Amino acid sequence: MKLSPSLLAADFARLAESVARVEAGGVDMLHLDVMDGNFVPNISFGAGVIGALRPHSKLFFDVHLMIDRPERYIADFVKAGADGITFHIESTGDPDGVIEQIRAAGCRVAVALSPKTPVETVLPYLNRCDMVLVMTVEPGFGGQSLMPETLEKARALRAEITRRGLATDLQADGGIGAKNLAAVLDAGVNVVVAGSAIFGAPDPTAAIAAMRAVENA
Ligand code: DX5
Ligand code: ZN
Repeated sequence: MKLSPSLLAADFARLAESVARVEAGGVDMLHLDVMDGNFVPNISFGAGVIGALRPHSKLFFDVHLMIDRPERYIADFVKAGADGITFHIESTGDPDGVIEQIRAAGCRVAVALSPKTPVETVLPYLNRCDMVLVMTVEPGFGGQSLMPETLEKARALRAEITRRGLATDLQADGGIGAKNLAAVLDAGVNVVVAGSAIFGAPDPTAAIAAMRAVENA
């Protein structure tokens, strides 16, 4: 399991400190949720904040774009220091172009699907993506509860990845913590995002350890 804590739940006045703490606690990536107030009804932060954090961390920067027409901004996020860029299949009329742009910039490419979006929508792009992100809540806000039916989509995607003999990572995002991690991993997910369960915990280091304990149980 690769663990990718979502910065959305961190103290925005102490970002570098918060990142250093989870980095020392043994996570694999940093999940950066970019929201534009259009694709989702909330605004978070953009490339400026990501670029400011970049010199403070060696973690893989896992940038999750929840923005309309991401093709307009890929270059900005690459320049800011993204290692991987995830865009929503629902957010662009040109998924092939976005995949190409991200790939050409030397970043890992991922496509995301919201809870209501059928799995079939991303299947044509599976072979060209390094990762698929199954949203386990409606995108837009941290701190929501995982929708159990979304795990069936993860299961179907894992089956298809295996059937095609691909090495594609499968990420789940939204409402995940130690309490439901076993079910998420059982669905075939190998990259786990957790916002409130880690940055929102009184002791993020202990929260990471609790998730590792579930992984190793
Ligand atoms: C939701 C974001 C998630 C969110 C996760 O739109 O994509 O990454 O911050 O936060 P929790 O783990 O609190 O649901
Ligand atoms: Zn996210």
